[in-house]
Amino acid sequence: MKKTHFLMVLGLALVFEGSQCQEREVFVAQGSLAVLPCVDETSAISHPTAVYWSRVVGNVLKTVWRRDKSGLEFRPVRDPARAICPIPNFGKADYSLHITETTMEDEGKYVCEVQGKTRMVKVIILRVVRASFSPDVVVEGSRTNAKCDISGGTKFVTINWKQNGMFTSTARLSNVSQRDAGNWTCRVAYDGGVVEATASLQVKGIVNPQDDSSVVYAAVGSSVSLPCVFTDGLIPYTVTWNKTPTTSYSSVPLPASFNKSAGPSASATIQRVQDGDEGMYTCSGMMKGLNMINVNRRIKLQRRMELVVTQVLRSSSSSGPVTLTCHLSNSSQITSYEWLRVTYGPNNTQTVTSVRKTKSYRIQEVTEKDAGEWMCRYYGEQGVLGNVTYQIHVMGAVKSGNSSSGNKTAMVMGLGFLFLVVFLILFQMYRNYRRKKMIHLYPAMETIVHQAATERERRGRSAAKMAEACVGDPQPVCV
Ligand SMILES: *[C@@H]1O[C@H](CO)[C@@H](O)[C@H](O)[C@H]1NC(C)=O
Ligand SMILES: *[C@@H]1O[C@H](CO)[C@@H](O)[C@H](O)[C@H]1NC(C)=O
Ligand SMILES: *[C@@H]1O[C@H](CO)[C@@H](O)[C@H](O)[C@H]1NC(C)=O
Ligand SMILES: *[C@@H]1O[C@H](CO)[C@@H](O)[C@H](O)[C@H]1NC(C)=O
Ligand SMILES: *[C@@H]1O[C@H](CO)[C@@H](O)[C@H](O)[C@H]1NC(C)=O
Ligand SMILES: *[C@@H]1O[C@H](CO)[C@@H](O)[C@H](O)[C@H]1NC(C)=O
Repeated sequence: MKKTHFLMVLGLALVFEGSQCQEREVFVAQGSLAVLPCVDETSAISHPTAVYWSRVVGNVLKTVWRRDKSGLEFRPVRDPARAICPIPNFGKADYSLHITETTMEDEGKYVCEVQGKTRMVKVIILRVVRASFSPDVVVEGSRTNAKCDISGGTKFVTINWKQNGMFTSTARLSNVSQRDAGNWTCRVAYDGGVVEATASLQVKGIVNPQDDSSVVYAAVGSSVSLPCVFTDGLIPYTVTWNKTPTTSYSSVPLPASFNKSAGPSASATIQRVQDGDEGMYTCSGMMKGLNMINVNRRIKLQRRMELVVTQVLRSSSSSGPVTLTCHLSNSSQITSYEWLRVTYGPNNTQTVTSVRKTKSYRIQEVTEKDAGEWMCRYYGEQGVLGNVTYQIHVMGAVKSGNSSSGNKTAMVMGLGFLFLVVFLILFQMYRNYRRKKMIHLYPAMETIVHQAATERERRGRSAAKMAEACVGDPQPVCV
């Protein structure tokens, strides 16, 4: 009892004469381990008899941890395990106090006293750094503030915010996006070190795609998913999709095989992509009753994404060299192309072999060995973006690609038509020939036919004259 009293008096003396005793500031992030240093650098106290750690609360010293001459350890009942002075360290003349899971309330002035041959007293000021967002759960497009609190004031420190390894000076977010979600770190640099405290920001909205810049690539004939995934627990009561051309904002009809998926996901599928399906697709979800917002307010969250349709175009010449071209409806993000040969081994194992790193691939003469699957792979800044395949069919000497079956039908029909025309011409010529031959056989008949024709003509002419007279004459003469 006497000892405590002595310490209290000592502590108060120290508090009031703090400038004489060396005080050390220690910064620590909330939630982490704080080590309040108390090291006997000169090793003057080779065998400590007693170690006292106390905290200045108001005007009194409260024991935090104590080891008496008898070897008995004392810890406050209230917070037994959080503050300890690890005895194994004593051999290294280290009497530092360890506080686990530091809270803002732990901040303040601590006193370390070690007794042995001599007496050592150290005063440590603990400062706790806390990073936070208010609010820390927001909906896309709303605002939030990032705060970096340092207990007991913020003198002689610099504060920086860091997200995903990048530093920002601003700590006020006015139009929160999905990119802002995650851990933000407040970095406090003080005289003697750096402390980082982390706060996490949760952004409700559409997690995939993260923003309006995403591009989806799909080959003609394939099926493609257009993602629109809302954060967990955020279920829109209506979801609509619409399509606009890349260059305009006026809606155009969705593709025929467009399928809005059932269930909580708002993602959509185009079962069979066709040439012309390219464009901007927008997914919009209407929300209400978000817990942190006025329940009656309706919020519309939407995301735009671009669908790029890919296909292999084949040079149209039916003979000679064949050129396969990798065609994308928008190739602005493509950095390179690669042509690959696809072969299938046993068990349908696919093997691809790079052939050439160009957009177009020219085959001088298509032979049996070129038959089969070819693949064009396209790359963007981040690597492979996708691929599109093409089948070359070789039937004996006839070369054809998979898209030429229509041409063949046309060719057959054209040839048939040509034959028909030639046949009709020949037939007509034959008939003319027969007619001439007949007339030659019966010359009299020609005269008769001619006379008959002349007679018919003459009669027709007089009838026309009479008709003319009739028109000119008002009297009903010609009945
Ligand atoms: C907020 O950000 C989104 C996407 O980044 C943008 O479309 C929108 O116009 C911004 N709103 C305001 C008010 O700046
Ligand atoms: C954010 O921090 C928490 C704990 O502080 C950690 O569990 C989580 O993995 C971190 N998230 C990211 C994206 O780094
Ligand atoms: C192609 O895509 C880019 C973005 O990747 C976009 O800015 C551009 O408008 C698109 N062009 C066309 C013609 O679709
Ligand atoms: C859309 O998907 C559902 C099930 O996923 C399927 O039953 C339906 O046939 C699909 N509709 C179209 C037009 O493909
Ligand atoms: C093919 O698959 C069977 C079983 O699925 C396996 O036993 C065999 O080894 C495979 N062959 C090759 C060449 O991979
Ligand atoms: C081609 O693209 C599809 C997805 O579109 C992918 O699953 C496949 O692995 C790709 N193949 C090669 C050989 O890159």
